[in-house]
Amino acid sequence: MTKVGIVVGSIRKNSFSEQLANNIIERFPEDFEAEFIEIANLPLYNQDSDENVPEVYTNFRDTVKALDAVVFVTPEHNRSFPAALKNALDVGSRPYGSNVWDGKPALIVSQSPSNLSGFGANHHLRQVLAFLNMPVVQQPEVYIANVMDLLGQDGKITNQDTINFLQTVVDTYVEFVKKH
Ligand code: FNR
Repeated sequence: MTKVGIVVGSIRKNSFSEQLANNIIERFPEDFEAEFIEIANLPLYNQDSDENVPEVYTNFRDTVKALDAVVFVTPEHNRSFPAALKNALDVGSRPYGSNVWDGKPALIVSQSPSNLSGFGANHHLRQVLAFLNMPVVQQPEVYIANVMDLLGQDGKITNQDTINFLQTVVDTYVEFVKKH
């Protein structure tokens, strides 16, 4: 079984990102197991905590370490990805030399309620993942525009073009993970 962590960049309840993530998860094959990784409970990272490590950091780092792959689904905040996600990446990257993200194949999905589709968030995240040494799917790039129009009341996407696109994305990612 391949364990895929789903890291949602939004920490608000029932976020569009979480709903979109659920539509992505259900397109994985049966030998892939998806698990949401909690980031909202992580206090802001401060290097002093390397001396006196909060239990919540240890649990988070152990959880990420046990993953085979990571999918990021994120909105855009002020032309970048949200601070909560940056904090989670920072927590996992330290103490120096113990980066738990290291080598884990990643997929980046950005979304927005407008046509802009989180391009800035998507590419800022790519920059950070390069430093964390995570191989990232290059193509297809995944920018989900007008997300509110795509998600039904039940959180399901019914637009067939979008469903087909998400299936292609997942199939590409599954092959990518197997290669790594
Ligand atoms: C936003 N939003 C936003 N949207 C966008 O396309 N580009 C942006 O730069 C921003 N900036 C921004 C800053 C802050 C602080 C907030 C709270 C929101 C709107 C954002 O795209 C919208 O709230 C998300 O679609 C919500 O996604 P979730 O949180 O439901 O996943």
